[in-house]
Amino acid sequence: MTEAGHQDSSRISASATTPAMRRHVVLVASVTALGGLLFGYDTGVVSGALLYLHTSFGALTSLDKELVTSLLLIGALIGALGGGRVADAIGRRPTLLITAVVFIVGQLGAAFSPSLGVLIISRVVTGLAVGTASELVPLFIGEAAPPRLRGSLVSFNQLAITLGILVSFLVDYGLSASKDWRLMFGLAVVPAALLFGGMLFQDESAHWLIRQGRIDDARKVLTKVRSGAGVEEEIKDVQSLPRDKARFLDLFKPSLRKVVLVGVVLAALQQVTGINTIIYYLPTLLRGAGLRSSASLLANVGNGLVNVGFTIVAIFLVDRVGRRPLLIGGISGMTIGLLVVAIEFLGGSKLHGTAATVAIVAFFFYTASFAIGLGPVFWLLISEIYPVDVRGQAMSLATMTNWGANFVVTISFLSLVGAIHAFGTFFLFAFLSVFALLYSLLRVPETKGQSLQEIERDMD
Ligand code: BGC
Repeated sequence: MTEAGHQDSSRISASATTPAMRRHVVLVASVTALGGLLFGYDTGVVSGALLYLHTSFGALTSLDKELVTSLLLIGALIGALGGGRVADAIGRRPTLLITAVVFIVGQLGAAFSPSLGVLIISRVVTGLAVGTASELVPLFIGEAAPPRLRGSLVSFNQLAITLGILVSFLVDYGLSASKDWRLMFGLAVVPAALLFGGMLFQDESAHWLIRQGRIDDARKVLTKVRSGAGVEEEIKDVQSLPRDKARFLDLFKPSLRKVVLVGVVLAALQQVTGINTIIYYLPTLLRGAGLRSSASLLANVGNGLVNVGFTIVAIFLVDRVGRRPLLIGGISGMTIGLLVVAIEFLGGSKLHGTAATVAIVAFFFYTASFAIGLGPVFWLLISEIYPVDVRGQAMSLATMTNWGANFVVTISFLSLVGAIHAFGTFFLFAFLSVFALLYSLLRVPETKGQSLQEIERDMD
């Protein structure tokens, strides 16, 4: 890190925030994180809704079900591709407002769909918004947060994702008696409308304003979240970064390649270590292993709670112990959990007595380890490590990779279990976790407590 970088950071943190400023920035993070809640809800809700679609559309083929489930992920991939560019071009706030509207259109389309075709299209539309939100929420919060609180505040997004998933499981469960799949999809309009209303009252990102040369506007925004000298320091600091109007292809330039690769590899590793096979399929897996439906659904809700609980632990720790210890400790825990699950399945696809209990505990342990590390830390790091001028585009690439890998894993999981059995599949995830561990040890930087500008200089 440069001498100047050190001075900048100490001045910025010396200008520490007042309680009122912290309240303001927590409010900014909470409103924006509604985008994360929608990401979690819209990806989680389908598992329950799928069970009742036949009441309106007659019997569904496996392909129909796969399309309803996974085309959202393709929509998300496209949303992630466009979202960053739009946010760099027209600003973060208008892009989030448009995203909220797209959420509402997709969700209403799904709730009122007269045919399966319309439902599938509506899921793609919802996916566009999910993909854009997944990228813009950490970006927007990261730019507003003071360095010392940035880890916790950006991780509000992951907390919101896990809450969204949990709420969707509970809604599915609560509406299962009435088989009301339309309401399952439709209820998400409430947080989407709140996101729209909340964003109307938010300011544009000061960093984006500075890069547009709108210094007075940026100053007004910054005075709400930084005190005295910190405002001018941050303006100067962001202005002083090299201007590098980048196009998408520039991300592959030698000077950016290293940092771009870290985000892309972590994005893929977050998915290929299996989290969503558990988030989307745990009840299916446990039912297949011989557990009753009610026990499987209960275990699923338990897993959702563990996910939320340990994300909260991560929020408390991430600015204290740093990103790398959480990432490395968390991935180690995931590897152990996956190995135990694989071993329990060695004897065959059925789990009896203690084997079932041990497997469920191992699944919970795995989820807890993801929630404390790779879950929040991936989204946090990609909001921190890229230079401001390419931040939107570079986050797009990482986010697209994440959705693409999610799609591949989700679509192939059940066939993989068919081909190499549950034990083979979980061994494979464990092997990939070991790779993730080595990669994190060797390549992932620590960003705790640094200003985004310092990180940018460090990554050069
Ligand atoms: C991942 C999602 C996953 C969720 C589970 C997020 O960080 O990107 O794919 O469903 O965590 O909590």
